[in-house]
Amino acid sequence: MTRGSLLVDHIGELVTNDGRDGDPLGIRRDAALLIEDGEVAWTGPARHAPAADRRIDAGGAAVLPGFVDSHAHLVFAGDRAGEFAARMAGEPYTGGGIRTTVGATRAASDDDLRATVGRLRAEMLRQGTTTVEIKSGYGLNVADEARSLRIAAEFTGDTTFLGAHVVPAEYADRPDDYVGLVCGPMLAAAAPYARWIDVFCERGAFDADHARAILACGQAAGLGVRLHANQLGPGPGVRLGVEMGAASVDHCTHLTDADIDALAGSATVATLLPGAEFSTRSPYPDARRLLDAGVTVALATDCNPGSSYTSSMPFCVALAVREMRMTPAEAVWAATAGGAAALRRTDVGRLTPGARADLIVLDAPSHLHLAYRPGVPLIRQVLHNGVPR
Ligand code: NIG
Ligand code: FE
Repeated sequence: MTRGSLLVDHIGELVTNDGRDGDPLGIRRDAALLIEDGEVAWTGPARHAPAADRRIDAGGAAVLPGFVDSHAHLVFAGDRAGEFAARMAGEPYTGGGIRTTVGATRAASDDDLRATVGRLRAEMLRQGTTTVEIKSGYGLNVADEARSLRIAAEFTGDTTFLGAHVVPAEYADRPDDYVGLVCGPMLAAAAPYARWIDVFCERGAFDADHARAILACGQAAGLGVRLHANQLGPGPGVRLGVEMGAASVDHCTHLTDADIDALAGSATVATLLPGAEFSTRSPYPDARRLLDAGVTVALATDCNPGSSYTSSMPFCVALAVREMRMTPAEAVWAATAGGAAALRRTDVGRLTPGARADLIVLDAPSHLHLAYRPGVPLIRQVLHNGVPR
């Protein structure tokens, strides 16, 4: 953190997410923003801007909160480009390739895993992501899950224990024993490095009974609950997440009316991951149905080597607008404040006094350009904790 004050001046459009005046984005025009000690200290009209030690001239551009990517699997080795090519030639995605990545991850050194996380984290930062959640889930034994989380914790406080990603090959015919391992020694080794617990609740991974047992063990160990649910087909995951008070249920690609009703009456966020539908050539989730029912929606990348190898929140915003019928404002809110809600964070995802000074200066006059100009590198400058990166 740099000491002294920093004024971001001459902001054409400031997205605060303060939700005032019926505008969720809380847009202020011709604005300025003062940073002190890594936090937003003041926002207001540029003509009233206070003096500061240093100044950044935004030149009339849009300034947004840094993206909050609440769902990413960055600790892995190798890639699965061949699997992607096969899918694009017509093969379906089943999640079966997860075991390929588990083999590569177990064989990798700590330094190799750390370098991959660092590379992807840097990619994210360049694309405006200032907060990221990182999951384990490619170790699937006690030592490799613990080291995945230890390495993830070097990069973020939002680390998630996903020992229940799939049942590894050596437990294929003893899934109950694997659940016992996850709830016992694996959780004990993982918990010191984890804030959250997650389960892939899906046919071919973990059923509702196993998922409930694992999440309950995690909760008892002090971890918050989140869940991969209803990605590949309808199922009990979303309702289980709501029942357990999950901060977020993620994917939500196949939802029934009962799932939507459960979400609408809860504090659980629905996190949509359109990079996964893009990369598996699957139907997109029905974001409109969720939003119209009053569900809080977040967007995240799901960055992983199998189903969604993108680190780009701007790409996900563009997909959400074009393919999921979210308005640009809804998509930008979901990628910032929505992600913060999914991580139960109040210090990020907004640019109001007291928030962390994590912000993006766009190479564009408005947030609309994120979807209007897809694939264009519009992130001119990123400040993280008030420090230009
Ligand atoms: O969120 N669905 C489960 N896990 C990941 C995919 C992991 C992989 O294919 O390696 C997901 O899409
Ligand atoms: Fe995922």
